[in-house]
Amino acid sequence: MILSGSVSQAVANTLGDILDEPVLPLSYRRFPDGELIVEVDRSASLPVGATIDDGGFTLDDRAVIVCSTPTPRAHLELLQLQDLATSAGAERIETVIPYLGYARQEVAHEPGQPASARAIARAIGANTDHVVTVDPHEPVVAEYFPAECTITSAISPLADALSVQSDAPVFIAPDEGARSLAIELRAAYGAGEVDHFVKERLSGETVEITPSEIDVTDREVILVDDIIATGSTMADSARLLLDRGATTVRVACVHPLLVTSGYTRLRRNGVAEIVATDTLERTVSQVSAAGPIASALSS
Ligand code: R5P
Repeated sequence: MILSGSVSQAVANTLGDILDEPVLPLSYRRFPDGELIVEVDRSASLPVGATIDDGGFTLDDRAVIVCSTPTPRAHLELLQLQDLATSAGAERIETVIPYLGYARQEVAHEPGQPASARAIARAIGANTDHVVTVDPHEPVVAEYFPAECTITSAISPLADALSVQSDAPVFIAPDEGARSLAIELRAAYGAGEVDHFVKERLSGETVEITPSEIDVTDREVILVDDIIATGSTMADSARLLLDRGATTVRVACVHPLLVTSGYTRLRRNGVAEIVATDTLERTVSQVSAAGPIASALSS
């Protein structure tokens, strides 16, 4: 039985199709003070394996909770769903976090800060048998969960969605940390060269990109990263590449946060195409991460 957070409906339903497991009908609302109520939708007919009556709610088999955590609300929904599955007697609880928020705070970056990813992982890992997450910003976060954690990658499926014409494109990561993603995408595409730039973050919305020496004149370029947040990293990199003679610049990422005016920033800086996965549901989320997630779950 799949239990989906409100922000992960698409990937949860695709996962259900792949696993041939039903998605539990749930509703999500708030009390007047803002507290969240997640509950089984009693107006819907429940799938086989789920029962609700005045005696309570029961789940017969395993529960697969699917909930990205881009917001505090989503974090809370995830904890609520885990509690729901536990109290319903699910025989095993697997928690899928397609996009794991706070993974960029995997350590205290400055003295006096918490390792926020560790705090989040301890809370989520306390009430589950297995965690699956997709391309977390820092893989070390897997070690913070008190339960077993499997990391999977949704980079390869992005290759099929790119409308690249060239048989020798250039896959560029905006910083060294994303180079492995560029290598993986190039391997899935089957041709091309890989390189990376150097990035210094100046603030939440501004970065300084130092390009490499690679010659991109008259070449198609695909910029590859795990997350697009404000779009600064990709927009600045795209502008540099077009100024250096690239014919087109496309961007590929797993997690399209696209906060503030991120989408517009990319388009205004000449990005021809944006491809991303449904770990976060945005207009650019045309590739599903459900396949890699299904493979990472216990069989
Ligand atoms: C951080 O290094 C990540 O890999 C991304 O590069 C970053 O989150 C992108 O942020 P923005 O889109 O705001 O530049």
